Amino acid sequence: MDTHFISITDLNPLQIRSVLDLSEELKRELSADGANRELLKGRTMLMFFEKPSLRTRISFEIGMTQLGGHAIYLTPADVGLGSRERISDVARVSSSMADILMARVFKHEVVTELAAHSAAPVINGLSDLEHPCQILADLLTIREKKGDLSGLKLSFVGDGENNVTHSLCLASAMLGMRFACASPHNLTMNKEIVKKARSLACADAIMETHDPVEAVADADIVYTDTWVSMGDEKERTTREQLLRPYQVTKSLMKKAKPEAIFMHDMPAYRGLEVEVEVIDGIQSVVFEQAENRLHAQKGLVGYLLGCKR
Ligand code: NVA
Repeated sequence: MDTHFISITDLNPLQIRSVLDLSEELKRELSADGANRELLKGRTMLMFFEKPSLRTRISFEIGMTQLGGHAIYLTPADVGLGSRERISDVARVSSSMADILMARVFKHEVVTELAAHSAAPVINGLSDLEHPCQILADLLTIREKKGDLSGLKLSFVGDGENNVTHSLCLASAMLGMRFACASPHNLTMNKEIVKKARSLACADAIMETHDPVEAVADADIVYTDTWVSMGDEKERTTREQLLRPYQVTKSLMKKAKPEAIFMHDMPAYRGLEVEVEVIDGIQSVVFEQAENRLHAQKGLVGYLLGCKR
């Protein structure tokens, strides 16, 4: 199967559920037996990184090892995607040797072009437009905490013009969750993403507002991300000013459901997008969410490489 995973919408709801089921099964197996079956014995993943990474790199690398396979980490100095070598040439050569590719890039078009020329599945490990791998781990965490995803309300507060926000919005639309995004005027979600999400959801399931209190009303999940994503560093001062009223505070959490959970994909900046009392408080699930990157990434690679369960 040569399915790429560039957008969260590259998997349909049934396929997302299969990935989450496999992730859960591998998580249970690892915890019960102390090891996984070697589902990916002899398989190799190539990982191209144009940007820094903690969770994405270690979850794929450890995940491949635990499943009996191998991952190779390549920096821009090693490869020079699109500068030292054409993206199409990199894709053809890499996929003639490796079983699966993963790329973390600045421009979304780089990962779509890799996929267009690759004979092996390509995974988007974060681009300026989407971060679908993160969202699989988020869905796994939400399922563990809340059970069925359908009918839940997920509220994102902060930078709307953001890869994580976009993938969350699309996933919510596909899986029957309500999604609300509170962001300032100049940092709203990409219009095409909102249009696509609305076409996948019931009419009123996707809400955009500039008011954080309105967004979190009745929320089961309150989610935020850094105000300055990788690549946005030149806009730091403006962004911090614009986003200051969007900090997730204890008092904002009180406007959500009393049993609401707090999520953040990390790296997190305490005192900026989130108050320390929230991220380190009892409603926060951020460390379970981060650990679930490992389990979700194993489920994803296993699914894309057609592992029998
Ligand atoms: N929106 C963030 C996500 C980091 C995992 C960024 O792109 O930097």
